[in-house]
Amino acid sequence: MNAAVGHNLQQRAEYTHKHNLRTGRHGWLRLTPAYSVKLVEALIAQCDRPMLVLDPFSGTATTALCAAYHGHKAVTIEINPFLVWLGEAKTAHYSEATLAVTRDTCAGVIDLVKRKRIEPVPPPPIHNIERWWAPRELGFLCAVRAAIDAVTDKTSPQHRLLLVSFCRTLIALSNAAFDHQSMSFKDNSQLPLIPDADMCAVFAKNAQFVLNGAGDNPGATGEVLLGDSRNPAAVTEAIFDRVITSPPYANRMSYIRELRPYMYWLGFLINGRDAGELDWLAIGGTWGLATSRLIEWKSSGNSYLNHLLQNSLNGIARHENKSGRILSNYVAKYFDDMWAHFQALPRRLAPKAELHYIVGNSTFYGILLPVEQIYASMLQRLGFENIQCSPVRKRNSKKELIEFDVTARWPG
Ligand SMILES: C[S@@+](CC[C@H](N)C(=O)[O-])C[C@H]1O[C@@H](n2cnc3c(N)ncnc32)[C@H](O)[C@@H]1O
Repeated sequence: MNAAVGHNLQQRAEYTHKHNLRTGRHGWLRLTPAYSVKLVEALIAQCDRPMLVLDPFSGTATTALCAAYHGHKAVTIEINPFLVWLGEAKTAHYSEATLAVTRDTCAGVIDLVKRKRIEPVPPPPIHNIERWWAPRELGFLCAVRAAIDAVTDKTSPQHRLLLVSFCRTLIALSNAAFDHQSMSFKDNSQLPLIPDADMCAVFAKNAQFVLNGAGDNPGATGEVLLGDSRNPAAVTEAIFDRVITSPPYANRMSYIRELRPYMYWLGFLINGRDAGELDWLAIGGTWGLATSRLIEWKSSGNSYLNHLLQNSLNGIARHENKSGRILSNYVAKYFDDMWAHFQALPRRLAPKAELHYIVGNSTFYGILLPVEQIYASMLQRLGFENIQCSPVRKRNSKKELIEFDVTARWPG
């Protein structure tokens, strides 16, 4: 690999670093930062007997994998089908034989691409795709995507392991910079060209990373279910001893927005409208049409209102705040949804079940939204005991933004 190319890849690696795609066995693709994973590990390590753990907001299935490593069974629920697919891939058990076949298959994919023996798939219908990838990188990705489909059966573990490797590669070769909450793009005309052989090396390296992680997976790991945590009974009849989760925050972060490159490449999304519909279904989503729907949104009437929430809503909606009405609807809907979730929870809990919700507070127009206290107050209303909000860490330079572990016990 020549020096300029090495520098280019290093630069890209730095861009993607913040996106947390590359650390440890949880790092295939991750939505939460490393400290969150450590906290989940620590909470699970405290369980002194085999437990049935629920994560109602599965994301990339961190809780399921941690639980399995510690000999517990976990059921996780996720509303985004791509994350269910990823969670299943991440938590499945892979035999040595499967991993060996996947290594060979990966070499086959690279060979086909290098020798240009494969008809590339058409680029996915991502809006402004040229901002994401320069033409050569895009062409390379289209060829790898086609080669994976050509040499693997779509239902095989090889197929899913190589697609996870492909997901990591497509971000590694992109111009996306994930340094802030709002992602940006680097100007690719400034970056040196990467030879095909080096792009193949990036894919090979990512496949090695994924296969090493997969080889570590414990045996029985539980289930990742496609469902809505406002109605967990629709997808599981199990009764849980622990709930350990990082729910969506009330901070307008859109998981669909973050995940859309993978979702388009893997066929989970085919247009922006579907992306907006999915974000509207998700708690806290505001991407695309979800934002315009918020303007018209009216509560279904099943609201939990206490003075903390009411004061925040009134403050946010003040007419001098340009988008105050929409944002106040956003916050009201977020808490309506979380209230529905908390209300549905007790039916799935064993006596003395313990909850851990790792959640941050937020600010809108300088008004602090004490999310953790509103959760605590909801849990109290529902009859939970031993409710505590323990600060876990400061979120960034804004000193008032803090993450909490909101804990409670179901009396049963
Ligand atoms: C903060 S992330 C979870 C991160 C996770 N701990 C991880 O390790 O990746 C919250 C997740 O909740 C999901 N979600 C949002 N609304 C949901 C709902 N109603 N039911 C189930 N999952 C939902 C989002 O798609 C997102 O993946």
